[in-house]
Amino acid sequence: MAILVTGGLGYIGSHTVVELLNNNFEVVIIDDLSNTEKFILENIEEVSGKKPIFYPFDLKRKELLKQVFDAHNIEGCIHFAAFKAVGESQVKPIEYYENNLFSLINLLQEFRERNISNFIFSSSCTVYGQADKMPIDEETELKLPESSYGKTKQMGEEILRDFAAAYKKRVTLLRYFNPIGAHPSAKLGELPIGIPNNLIPFVMQTAAGIREKLSIWGDDYPTVDGTAVRDYIYVVDLAKAHVKALQKLINSTEEKVIDIYNLGTGKGSSVLEVVHAFEKANDVKVPYEIKDRRAGDITIAYANADKAEKELGWKSETSLEEALRTVWQWQKYLETRIN
Ligand code: UD1
Repeated sequence: MAILVTGGLGYIGSHTVVELLNNNFEVVIIDDLSNTEKFILENIEEVSGKKPIFYPFDLKRKELLKQVFDAHNIEGCIHFAAFKAVGESQVKPIEYYENNLFSLINLLQEFRERNISNFIFSSSCTVYGQADKMPIDEETELKLPESSYGKTKQMGEEILRDFAAAYKKRVTLLRYFNPIGAHPSAKLGELPIGIPNNLIPFVMQTAAGIREKLSIWGDDYPTVDGTAVRDYIYVVDLAKAHVKALQKLINSTEEKVIDIYNLGTGKGSSVLEVVHAFEKANDVKVPYEIKDRRAGDITIAYANADKAEKELGWKSETSLEEALRTVWQWQKYLETRIN
């Protein structure tokens, strides 16, 4: 029996593949390499000492997808593969809907035709928008996200609810808060392709001198220091939650389940707190300037992750500083690859 991991060479996907291999799962990866590089596969093998099976293609290629399901005894899937750049999704909405929704639907057709259950979907706290109260639990009302990217996540969730109900399948939706950090080996991490939009990759590149200054988007929010607050969750902790969620699905005797878990630390940190924590953890300077707010940004979001602790036996273990140390080690590793 094997677990299909789509987007398994991506940022969260690669860390999850390592945790699955460490837990003796047989892993089949499909990844079209659109936002990663082939060396990540070699590094997964080096870090885990095991070899996942790898297919490089786009999930919209239905005939190739069928061949993978014919060739392997797939008992479940963790579906990471998706476009995820919020700003880009606003100028290329059709590409986002096509890529993120067709790939999901193609997978679900195989699941339905072959009567496979156990589907885990990478969702995002973006589905809550600006919640009225903190921390955010799974019962919090959903708001239609502003970005087309966010909408594909919310639509994906809806498609999976219908899929679970109509075909009696077990589905888990994992809503990530802000994933950060790299593998302790420094061989896996978030590949900064182009100019980073997310905070941590930009901080990392600024500390390394690749970027002159970090722009902090707004210091007039009603928060502790005026900068926006998020829940930064260490990527290896996040990866471990996937293994727990998968084990729960596989061991379930229920025909149909739709489980939803928030994955975060339960603690909010402001942008300035993150910048200062990075400087302290790594003994480096991060020059910054305050700019206007970024369109579409919310003020504050942090998780109530009690449900994941109670039902999956999972909780975040790694401190912000520890996670930020791995980011710097990863940057050093990337520099050795370029030079
Ligand atoms: C963003 C997406 C979210 C997605 C997540 C995936 C938006 C509005 N939301 O979350 O839907 O699921 O990424 O990783 O883009 N910041 C700066 N300067 C920078 C970069 C960021 O000040 O150069 C600030 C932002 O204003 C924000 C915080 O840092 O307050 C975190 O930003 P980011 O890493 O982009 O994540 P989110 O916006 O929370």
